[in-house]
Amino acid sequence: MKALKMTRYGDIDTCLELQSAEIPTPQPGEVLVRVHAASVNPVDNMVLRGELKSVRKEVFPAGVGRDVSGEVVAVGKNVAGYSVGDQVFARVGEDHVGTIAEYLTIDTSHLAAKPENLSHFEAAGIPLVGLTSYQSLIKVAGLKSGEKVLIHAGSGGVGSMAIQLAKSVGAYVVTTTSTANVDWVKGLGADLVIDYKKEDYLQLLSDMDVVFDTLGGQYTLDAFKVLKTGGRVISVKGALDPQTAEELGLSWLLRKILALKSRKLMKAARAKSGLYRMVIMEANGGQLSKLGNLYRENILFPVIDQVYSLERSKEAFAYLASGRAKGKVIISVGEIH
Ligand SMILES: NC(=O)c1ccc[n+]([C@@H]2O[C@H](COP(=O)([O-])OP(=O)(O)OC[C@H]3O[C@@H](n4cnc5c(N)ncnc54)[C@H](OP(=O)(O)O)[C@@H]3O)[C@@H](O)[C@H]2O)c1
Repeated sequence: MKALKMTRYGDIDTCLELQSAEIPTPQPGEVLVRVHAASVNPVDNMVLRGELKSVRKEVFPAGVGRDVSGEVVAVGKNVAGYSVGDQVFARVGEDHVGTIAEYLTIDTSHLAAKPENLSHFEAAGIPLVGLTSYQSLIKVAGLKSGEKVLIHAGSGGVGSMAIQLAKSVGAYVVTTTSTANVDWVKGLGADLVIDYKKEDYLQLLSDMDVVFDTLGGQYTLDAFKVLKTGGRVISVKGALDPQTAEELGLSWLLRKILALKSRKLMKAARAKSGLYRMVIMEANGGQLSKLGNLYRENILFPVIDQVYSLERSKEAFAYLASGRAKGKVIISVGEIH
């Protein structure tokens, strides 16, 4: 089979290669999936550049890609609930990375049935950003109807999903984007869109119940300036907070170093009697299944920017790395979509 592989840490042009590989055999608890579509996420570029080496070292050639939609073609031992012919989608676990390939094995705990009303292209763009938004806004922030939430970068893969999810629970959604994307982001359901090229959100907003920070750096600290007392700042790009560091099982030494990096944020949270949490998303088939139902009921809808063929995968990585994607960047694999 053909599979996109990372040959070493470095740049897109020299370190990504379409190679021939063996079709894997599903182990107990796994299924073999024929891939119809995959999607690219910023984490794929971060791993390629070696930015996550301290957390996980790659063995080369390494598989690439975490989101997939396809068809079950073989089933391992002890698999319940899935059989050959099922149409499925997933954010695979870190030990199964390699969705930009013709086949891959997936642990069934990370799998969900693909909504019948979505194509494989559409489904492949959902898992990672959907689970990130769900775990951030619903599980950690506990966002409720009537609450005001600021979602940064509403036109991105995460933002375009988070806007819809926040609206689905009845929140009032404010988002930031550049001039060219203002109307498009309004169309996703945002109540107030702030054009960051022309306006300063810090001057316009106050008393937010929740800030969802997808940008990091100064944006994470500034979130507390527009937060109401007792509000919650949830980041997917800021410093790791002590609770998340402990839940990830990091060493005492690493936790001490990280505590230093997050101390300003924790202080700002205390000053607001509020919460600061960094979310590291996790693969979760049960939660993905719940998201799938929201698509079946037409409460959420897929947002695709570009589709690239497997042979043009590198262009997909480069486009995403430009930081200008509007929704999801998809890779088409195989013939059915
Ligand atoms: N911790 C986790 O588990 C986790 C999970 C998923 C993602 N993330 C992180 O979350 C971030 C967002 O991911 P993504 O998939 O949404 O990325 P993405 O799709 O590449 O985001 C691109 C979007 O960001 C917008 N943007 C860039 N700078 C902006 C600014 N200053 N203000 C407002 N919008 C801005 C761009 O809009 P304009 O063109 O209009 O500027 C563009 O539409 C990434 O850094 C990713 O690594 C973390």
